[in-house]
Amino acid sequence: MNILITGGAGFIGSHLIRHLLEAHPAYTITNLDKLTYAGNLANLRDVESSPNYRFVRGDIADGAFLMELFKEQRFDGVIHLAAESHVDRSIANPTEFVVTNVLGTVNLLVAARAAWEGQYDGKRFYHVSTDEVYGTLGSDGLFTESTAYDPHSPYSASKASSDHFVRAFHDTYGLPVVISNCSNNYGPCQFPEKLIPLFINNIRLMKPLPVYGKGENIRDWLWVLDHAKAIDLIYHRGTSGQTYNIGGHNEWTNIDLIKLLCRIMDRKLGREAGTSQSLISYVTDRAGHDLRYAIDASRLQRELGWTPSVTFEQGLEETVDWYLGNQAWLDEVTSGAYQHYYEKMYTDR
Ligand code: NAD
Ligand code: TYD
Repeated sequence: MNILITGGAGFIGSHLIRHLLEAHPAYTITNLDKLTYAGNLANLRDVESSPNYRFVRGDIADGAFLMELFKEQRFDGVIHLAAESHVDRSIANPTEFVVTNVLGTVNLLVAARAAWEGQYDGKRFYHVSTDEVYGTLGSDGLFTESTAYDPHSPYSASKASSDHFVRAFHDTYGLPVVISNCSNNYGPCQFPEKLIPLFINNIRLMKPLPVYGKGENIRDWLWVLDHAKAIDLIYHRGTSGQTYNIGGHNEWTNIDLIKLLCRIMDRKLGREAGTSQSLISYVTDRAGHDLRYAIDASRLQRELGWTPSVTFEQGLEETVDWYLGNQAWLDEVTSGAYQHYYEKMYTDR
C-alpha cells in the first residue's frame, strides 16, 4: 500500500503518520505538506528516517503539481488532512480558507480521479473533516451523521463545502470516498493558537488567559491518538461513500476545562493553588461563536468497534506533561524561528 497523507506535518497528521508507520510497517507513507505556520517537521523527527516514509513539500492549491505527483507516485489511497484549521484566523482571512480547504480538496479529488481512471478497486480517498460543519447545538441533542449542515464560521463553511465536493465525486464519478467528522482534538504538538496549548503556554509564562464571552461554550474533546486510530479503522474498514462521526463523549464548558487546566498547571509547576486561575481574563466573544458541539459516535462504535481509550483527566495530564517537557518546541513555534528556517532551507534549494 502506497498512501498519501496531506497535512502530515500538522497536529493530527503527525500523530496519524507515526501511528500508521507503527501499525502498518509494510506501507509506504508520503507526507505532502506546504509547511505553513502550522506545519512543523519537528513533529515527525523520530520517524523521518524510516525507509518507508518520505516528505514532499507542496501546496494542494497547485492542481498541476498534484497531477504530476499522482502520475509519478501511483498512490493506492489518500488521507486528506491538509487545511487551514483555526476559526479565529478564518474570521480574519476567509479567502485563504477557500483556497486551501475548498480548492485544495477539489484539486486532490481531480488528481485522484485522473490517476485511478475508473480503476477504483483497492483505492480509497479519505477526507478528514470536522463536527463544526453541523453548526451549533442547544443545551441538548447530539450531532449524528444525518444532521443537516449549518456552518457559521468561514472555517466551518469551507470544510462543509469540501465535504460536499467529496460526496459529489462519489455520487458523480463513483470515486471511492469516505468522510469522518470529528470533534475537538487535544494532545502533544498542537499549535498554540488553539485553546488548550495556548492556555498551557500562557500559564507557564504567567500571561493572561483570554476567555471568549462567559466561557459557557461547550466542546467535546478527543485525545488525538484516539482520532488517529479511528482514521486507521475507517480507512481500512469503513464503507465506501459513508460518513462517520468521531467524538470523545466528553463535553466540557470552556470555563470548567480552563479551571481544571489551571489546577493541573499549579500542581505541576509547584505554584500556590489559584495562581493560574487568577490569569483568567474575560474578553469580547468570538463573532458567530457556536454554543455547543457534541457528537453521537455510535455508528463508529457499532459498525467498527471504536471507542475512546483515554479519560480526559488522563489525557490532559499527559498533554500538560508533554508541553512542559517540550518548552523549547513551544518557544520555537511561538517565536516563528522555525518558519524562517524552513523558508531559507527550501528557497535556497
Ligand atoms: P493543523 O493546522 O495543525 O495542520 C494543518 C497542516 O496542513 C499543516 O501541516 C499545514 O502546513 C498543512 N497545510 C495547510 N495548507 C496547506 C496547503 N495548501 N497545502 C498543503 N499543506 C497545507 O491542523 P490539524 O488540527 O492537524 O487538523 C487536520 C485536519 O483535521 C484538518 O482538515 C481539520 O479541519 C481536521 N480536524 C481538526 C480538528 C482539531 O480539533 N484540530 C478536529 C476535527 C477535524
Ligand atoms: P479552539 O481551540 O479555537 O477550537 P474551536 O473553535 O475549533 O472549537 O477553541 C475552543 C473553544 O475555546 C471555543 O469555544 C473558543 C474558546 N477559546 C477561548 O475562549 N479563548 C481562546 O483564546 C481560544 C483560542 C478559544
